[in-house]
Amino acid sequence: MTGDKKRFVTITIDGPAGAGKSTVARRVAEKLGFEYLDTGALYRAVTLYLLEKGISPEDSEKMKEALDDLYVRMDSGRVFVNEEEVTAKIRSVVVERSVSDYAKLPLVREKLLKIQEMEAEKNDIVADGRDMGTTVFPRASLKIYLVATPTARALRRWKDLTGAGVEITVEEVKEQVRKRDTLDTNREQSPLRVPSDAKIIDTSEMEIAEVVAKIMEIAEKIRRQEGEKSQ
Ligand code: C5P
Repeated sequence: MTGDKKRFVTITIDGPAGAGKSTVARRVAEKLGFEYLDTGALYRAVTLYLLEKGISPEDSEKMKEALDDLYVRMDSGRVFVNEEEVTAKIRSVVVERSVSDYAKLPLVREKLLKIQEMEAEKNDIVADGRDMGTTVFPRASLKIYLVATPTARALRRWKDLTGAGVEITVEEVKEQVRKRDTLDTNREQSPLRVPSDAKIIDTSEMEIAEVVAKIMEIAEKIRRQEGEKSQ
């Protein structure tokens, strides 16, 4: 029937750095057969692109031009900037340090908003980030907000980074995470906030598998309800 568009399911997972969002989101997506949309990776990719072009967050003229020429996409967990694969590069310390300074800019957020909305029109998705449930997908079927203590979050990120060969102390990671959270929470555009209708899960003392199981339980319940509604 014309105009009869399939409605895809969107699950959002928001929270601060190191709360476990990406690992949890990826596994939930795998289990449900949904696509995983890592929006942090998109912001990192734009940051890398602008850093490599030498464009500072203050230079809005040059930035606008550069963003018009930018095409970012994700494919099965790999990230591409104008068809160059940048999956490893976006995890570098340089990008980590600057990403929140670029992510706060309206020009950058507008650019990525369209890409994120398009993904949700093509597939059932699990999207993780900072403003998924509040700004990008306010009508998501299920909204999760993950929290954890600063120490638990710093330890997780430290393990990831040292596992990838980066030499850094837990204290340094804690400071980086603290700085990013302050910037992400206090910016004007889409600050990190708990969506009013989100289920909050404190992951400090939980194994990843437990968090995934808990979300799956809630997601299954909602999927059944959505199925009943569409019949
Ligand atoms: O999740 P990840 O640590 O990869 O995110 C990197 C940064 O990208 C965050 O610290 C934040 O500044 C920005 N970000 C954002 N909005 C999102 C996802 C990430 O501003 N939806």
